[in-house]
Amino acid sequence: MLRLVNVTLSALASLMEETCHVLFVCLGNICRSPAGENIFRHQVTESGLSDCIACDSAGTAGYHIGKSPDARMTKAMRHRGYQVTGGARQFAPDDFNRFDLILTMDDDNYRDIISQARSNDQRKRVRCFTDFCTEHEETEVPDPYYGGDEGFEFVADLIEDGSAGIIAHLRKTRGL
Ligand code: 4NP
Repeated sequence: MLRLVNVTLSALASLMEETCHVLFVCLGNICRSPAGENIFRHQVTESGLSDCIACDSAGTAGYHIGKSPDARMTKAMRHRGYQVTGGARQFAPDDFNRFDLILTMDDDNYRDIISQARSNDQRKRVRCFTDFCTEHEETEVPDPYYGGDEGFEFVADLIEDGSAGIIAHLRKTRGL
């Protein structure tokens, strides 16, 4: 009986937790996923949804833990008027419990995160970021790290597109 009450209370608590938590994931958490986090947050604020949507970012690798976003990514974002914050961290298994939507930037990131999922519920939370783009055909956000400035601009283009798509998706599926 006590167990039933506990289960019911926890189901009720998750129904009452209205904030949707979104996590952006790339390899190093210094280029693409911080761009995702900062550009998406800007769009969420502009849409008046900051009370209902929260976001963060992480990397599948731990090479750059604690570092600020890459200077070239930061320059591309600031040039477009975005604030840039963040310190790199590595994806952790508990992120499956903390985030409703986990958005991977490329196929390697997707495979890595899916391989860490331990249930269908966890697998269902993981989606490719580009699934939400409506103005681009790309199926991955290309890694800009070893390329020139144009790669960082293209990351920002894709992320602006996909972020608008995620907001539209959350409005529809969560009635925001
Ligand atoms: P990100 O880019 O995954 O978009 O943060 C990279 C950052 C660092 C490295 C590769 C990609 N790296 O090899 O150090």
